[in-house]
Amino acid sequence: MRRKVTVVGAGNVGATCAQVLAQRDYADVVLVDIKEDLPQGKALDIDQMAAVLGFEPNVVGSNGYEETAGSEVVVITAGLPRSPGMSRDDLVTTNEKIVGSVTEQVVSASPDAVLIVVSNPLDAMCHVAKNVSGRPKERVFGMAGILDTARFSTFIAWETGASVKDVTAMVLGGHGDQMVPVVSATAVGGIPLTKLVGQERIDAMVERTRKGGGELVNLLGTSAWYAPGAAAAQMVDSICLDEKRVLPCTAYLEGEYGIDGLYMGVPVKLGAAGVEEIVELELNDQERAWLDESAAAVRDVVGVLST
Ligand code: LAC
Repeated sequence: MRRKVTVVGAGNVGATCAQVLAQRDYADVVLVDIKEDLPQGKALDIDQMAAVLGFEPNVVGSNGYEETAGSEVVVITAGLPRSPGMSRDDLVTTNEKIVGSVTEQVVSASPDAVLIVVSNPLDAMCHVAKNVSGRPKERVFGMAGILDTARFSTFIAWETGASVKDVTAMVLGGHGDQMVPVVSATAVGGIPLTKLVGQERIDAMVERTRKGGGELVNLLGTSAWYAPGAAAAQMVDSICLDEKRVLPCTAYLEGEYGIDGLYMGVPVKLGAAGVEEIVELELNDQERAWLDESAAAVRDVVGVLST
């Protein structure tokens, strides 16, 4: 029997994640949504894509959680997305209820699953999933840093004319406009970014990255989905295949980076056990100050939660 991965929420992000995972072809995928027929329809469409692209048609759509029983990893994308003019934090009250209820149902069907939260506001929703599930911090965490880093890397590839495959970057902090692109850890083909691009252009790329989600919302009228869905799938890969990739993820900090009792984006080693290690980068003074500002912004949103 193949391993099972569940994606909750058959909206754009969830369906993209399910599609990318199906194409990877190592797990059966269950796509869940409360909307009748939607997950079944998207699952059927992805299964029929398999005949064209050559992977096994093993995606199932469901409106309940029975089919999800025994999942190794569950990706939670359920909740409202942003509309133009909305910050991620505007979603907190509505999405707290949705993520709380989804978490309860997910955990009762798959008590051992690793939970990856994608719903916004991301850092706060990780607190909800952890509180409701009662699962250890190593097995409840969020996707944001891979997406934010992908945006930064894309801009760097365009700016330098280099392949995005040769860009090494890392964006830390909360998934909000105070996120921290770590320029001191950014290089292209091993050469530090600061040696290749002037400070003004770097500042512009940092700013565009921080506002990257909003740029997409303004263009699309809703949140982005291709890069977010693929980013969540990359985390599933690293866990299910025990790859031990070091990826920026939203992890529960207990003193690391001088931050305590808060979910924040930091580099982690992801493997079969979930977060197997939190990697502490050396930050310069400005990055350190930015990270503290970002933590304060996350704390404000977490303070609004009722759980
Ligand atoms: C974004 C949303 C998914 O950053 O938070 O695009």
